[in-house]
Amino acid sequence: GLPSTVRIHEVGPRDGLQNEKATVPTAVKAEFIHRLADAGLRTIEATSFVHPKWVPQLADAEQLVPLLGGVDARLPVLVPNERGLERALALGVREIAVFASATESFAKANLNRTVDESVAMFEPVVAKARAAGASVRGYLSMCFGDPWEGSVPVARVAAVARRLFDLGCDELSLGDTIGVATPGHVGALLDTLDIPVDHLAVHFHDTYGQALSNTLAALQRGVCTIDASAGGLGGCPYAKSATGNLATEDLVWMMDGLGIDTGVDLARLTATSVWMADQLGRPSPSRTVRALSHQ
Ligand code: HMG
Ligand code: MG
Repeated sequence: GLPSTVRIHEVGPRDGLQNEKATVPTAVKAEFIHRLADAGLRTIEATSFVHPKWVPQLADAEQLVPLLGGVDARLPVLVPNERGLERALALGVREIAVFASATESFAKANLNRTVDESVAMFEPVVAKARAAGASVRGYLSMCFGDPWEGSVPVARVAAVARRLFDLGCDELSLGDTIGVATPGHVGALLDTLDIPVDHLAVHFHDTYGQALSNTLAALQRGVCTIDASAGGLGGCPYAKSATGNLATEDLVWMMDGLGIDTGVDLARLTATSVWMADQLGRPSPSRTVRALSHQ
């Protein structure tokens, strides 16, 4: 059967905005996060403490975090290395995410490291984060297909997933970075992984329009943490064929229809995405946002 509640891990302010051409003012990002929390989202990935030259869109992380004091939500941030962790901890952040790749090509493009080198880079990050009382999410990218390497074998993904989880991650998010997965592939991967399902999340991009079908396949196998991005913002600057994430509104529409509780107020969320689309100067790609806002 399906779960009765689902936790949405909102990634719009991070995965969404990291890929926007326009630089969004820090105050607009802060308002976006406040509005997402007001719409009922309880986990909102706020920003990244990566090298500012690699992701200039999120170079204002130090300025943004202090503006989020009153937000009633967990606010995890991405950190790639010890330098990033120090920056985050110095601001009082106590929820971090490291991000590995199942493939060598993307590890090189995204982290300038081999897979082994990136796992070695994360090891002290996870240990020090836990010692500081922080919770740790591990992302694993390219779990289905890779723009340079094509289809990625499930056994390969399972092996890297195990190593990442064993570093001490509380949660592992399986990324379909370029949105090529289909439901049978999702089922096959989840059946191959030897990680307890209550520690798993899924992170779908909607390039081929499969994100909701893939989500249903994951729900049917007991996954109940789903990543999504308000308005369908997103992509990845180091994977050319990546488009936006599964739109949070599309996800909430399906969850509401299935009677699965998310705690999200769809009307307030849609209004937020319409407002954000205005700030970005382009309409939201979410079908649900368009239908509900008559865009
Ligand atoms: P590198 O060039 O190998 O860095 O990049 P390095 O370790 O050689 O250090 C070079 C310089 O950068 C040093 O300064 C460091 O201090 C500085 P110098 O001594 O030369 O003056 N530096 C930093 N400065 C600020 N903050 C830091 C930091 N680290 C080093 N954290 C690095 C390696 C990992 C830093 C780089 O590759 C990087 O920042 N990559 C991040 C890329 C990224 O953010 N990608 C998008 C997120 S992943 C994603 O979107 C996928 C996901 O959504 C899931 C999915 O869809 O699959 C999560
Ligand atoms: Mg992503």
